[in-house]
Amino acid sequence: MNVNNQNGDSCRQIVIFDTTLRDGEQSPGASMNMQEKVEVAKALVDLGVDVIEAGFPVASEGDFESVREISRVVKGSVVCGLARCVNNDIDRAWEALKEAEEPRIHVFLATSAIHREFKLRMSQEEIIARAVAGVERAKGYCSNVEFSPEDACRTEIDFLCKVVEATIAAGATTVNIPDTVGYTTPGEMTARIRTLFERVPNIDKAVVSIHCHNDLGMAVANSLAAVMAGAGQIECTINGLGERAGNCSLEEIVMAMRTRRDVFHVDTRIISQKLVPTSRLVSKVTGLKVPRNKAVVGRNAFAHESGVHQDGVLKERSTYEIMSPESVGFAKNDLVLGKHSGRAALSERIKSLGYELTPEQLVSAFEAFKNLADRKKEVYDADIIEIVDQMILKHGNDSDWKYESYELACGSDGKPFVKVILSQNGVEKAVCAREGDGPVHAMFVAVQQLVSFPLSLDEFKLEAVSGGSDAQGNAVVVLGEQGSCKTYRGRATSTDVFEATLKALVEAINRVQRVHENEERRA
Ligand code: KIV
Ligand code: ZN
Repeated sequence: MNVNNQNGDSCRQIVIFDTTLRDGEQSPGASMNMQEKVEVAKALVDLGVDVIEAGFPVASEGDFESVREISRVVKGSVVCGLARCVNNDIDRAWEALKEAEEPRIHVFLATSAIHREFKLRMSQEEIIARAVAGVERAKGYCSNVEFSPEDACRTEIDFLCKVVEATIAAGATTVNIPDTVGYTTPGEMTARIRTLFERVPNIDKAVVSIHCHNDLGMAVANSLAAVMAGAGQIECTINGLGERAGNCSLEEIVMAMRTRRDVFHVDTRIISQKLVPTSRLVSKVTGLKVPRNKAVVGRNAFAHESGVHQDGVLKERSTYEIMSPESVGFAKNDLVLGKHSGRAALSERIKSLGYELTPEQLVSAFEAFKNLADRKKEVYDADIIEIVDQMILKHGNDSDWKYESYELACGSDGKPFVKVILSQNGVEKAVCAREGDGPVHAMFVAVQQLVSFPLSLDEFKLEAVSGGSDAQGNAVVVLGEQGSCKTYRGRATSTDVFEATLKALVEAINRVQRVHENEERRA
């Protein structure tokens, strides 16, 4: 499709297919629960993503439920579910997707010689027959069907052309060309996509898509090469999450195409001002931090350190800035708020950070801000982001434990002692521990008593949210459940790092409890 850009020039509109909730979730340690996935899916719609790959429904009950819930509640983008070319996969995918406003089934089957020989033990003819059967079955459910020849970039080009032609003839409306192992180079990618356009007779009946992995750090460059050669859809993820080294990063490719429209002559529907808030949300729910020097959304992406650069930027920003921080959603400046700042100033600040809160949420945010401002002289953007994110991500249950207070005694001699007061439905309970290698261990032992399932403290991270000796500490804990591969994350922020740690532990315990309650309800 062609659209006019702001200069009135006609340019091709590229479909942005986000797979943060599927390939992105395959990043080690990036698993999300259903509520978090719905939260992210809603943010992706607001960002202007065209297609959201919500999950792989047959993979687990949790994946199925998440795709179904996203299909029910998320409107405004196509919702897609992944399936192998296997009847049960496709049937489950449709079951999960059928309530979506615009559903898409994405079927895939490996085509490269390595996969055919060692993984599938199938001939070329069998692969074509299975791929066609998969597309036809999906087509029986919905008109919007995508087919991916897995490991397409290592597939013999003649065979790839045949597979693409056969699956389009069977009804695929999008054919995706994955560089599954991140092996290809931009030059090879250009040649491969061009060949498909030249040699596949029915190629104009489908959108050609690209799905690049980043094993050699070339996912964005390879995706751009594909676009230059005529690809009309890019598969990508927020913060470049994904299997192994990840996928093509959405924020990088979108800003590359927008900033260098003179070169690429394409655009997308993405509202670039929402890139930073979306990146932060994904980082928050997955617990995977965005590297400071990450292009476009990293904290240092617009930080000018050298005096020469600072001087240049103050005189004329374009000396060292090729895009503005505001255009990707960074606030203009890190204005400091304090205890005398009013609700209007806070509301303005929250808006400029890219969040939209309901009046009720704003009241709670203001209350949290005032509490913080009483304990901390200067409240920075990073503090406000913490307050808002904590609030947005809080999904309470009646049976949730609420942290109230704590007492702690520890030192280099003797065992630490901790007493934690919590409440459940307004009823207080104290749990104590006098054991462990240090205060965090003792806190874990204390809160473990709240549930009957044996847990382990698998990860603990603590860091300052902003600068200054009165900075807030952000604690992240990951609890493992013994005898299962489930993990539960908790995070919290406070000017008191022990309080932050306890609140994070309590949040994780609440997650454990909710998962078990849901399991009992289903049983
Ligand atoms: O990398 C890959 O090949 C995939 C496919 C399922 C599209 O993720
Ligand atoms: Zn992939």
